[in-house]
Amino acid sequence: MISIIGSGRVGATTAALFMISEVDTRINLIDIVEGLPQGEALDLNHTAAILGKDVKIKGSNNYEDITGSDIVVITAGLPRKPGMTREELAAKNAEIVSTAAENVKKYAPNAIVILTTNPLDVMVAVLYNKLKFPRNRVIGFSGVLDSRRMAFYASQYLNLSPSAITPLVLGQHGENMYPVPELSFVYGKSLKSFLTEEQYSKVVKDTINAGADITNLRKFSSNWGPASGLTVMVNAIRNDRKTALEASVLLEGEYGIKGVFAEVPIILGKNGVEKVIEVDLNSEQKEKFAKSIEAIKNNLKQVPESYLK
Ligand code: 2OP
Repeated sequence: MISIIGSGRVGATTAALFMISEVDTRINLIDIVEGLPQGEALDLNHTAAILGKDVKIKGSNNYEDITGSDIVVITAGLPRKPGMTREELAAKNAEIVSTAAENVKKYAPNAIVILTTNPLDVMVAVLYNKLKFPRNRVIGFSGVLDSRRMAFYASQYLNLSPSAITPLVLGQHGENMYPVPELSFVYGKSLKSFLTEEQYSKVVKDTINAGADITNLRKFSSNWGPASGLTVMVNAIRNDRKTALEASVLLEGEYGIKGVFAEVPIILGKNGVEKVIEVDLNSEQKEKFAKSIEAIKNNLKQVPESYLK
């Protein structure tokens, strides 16, 4: 059984893609707003009946219903509004994530937990501190989103499929994200070698601004990208695929960094984070990564300390 905490746009879209992809036959949608998860579940159950998917979606306002879930996805939180930075959300969302974490700890203590709430790298630290689960079971979403977005933008200049690219984005899910086209590849050939300088800068800029661009255009933040990325991740866990993808995980000495959640490549399988892949970085790349880590550390200061103990 998979539970999704938060039945807003991201939570509901995620439930829909989980159902369509049949990653499980039972999906719980939880929210504190009365009627919202129940209404979404009803609509999705109708959709499953139309599509011939034998998946049952249950909507509930009761955390107890997540009991027995082996995967919990937390999407709860206030979304970014136009012009709002992810960091401004920090204090409010820490409270929401913290409550969700307490309930996961109580009702689904063996679950692998994936979080999408922004500011991502800070909220996943709040989650980890409340859960006290081993690091392989506490995962921040967004690496899939940022890296595949970079593959998309680059692919437009190369006349090839985004799936032909193995992209690398490191560090923060935010303005200080570090996209690394020189360490992204089409087979053995670096993405940088395909791009003019202007294209290179545009790919980096577009990748960093992708989330904000969506929000500014349609006045609410992304949901399809997060929902698809979560589907890929849950599929990897459920089927023990040992997929290589990116996520925000607790670094315990990898890249010379300790005690900070940041986007890095990992292997994802039935145990959650099976391995953190350490890409060889030259001194300039290490410096850029360190800058991104500094930004995450600074953002952690915006969260009341009680959430980080
Ligand atoms: C995104 O990058 C809003 O963080 C979200 O689309």
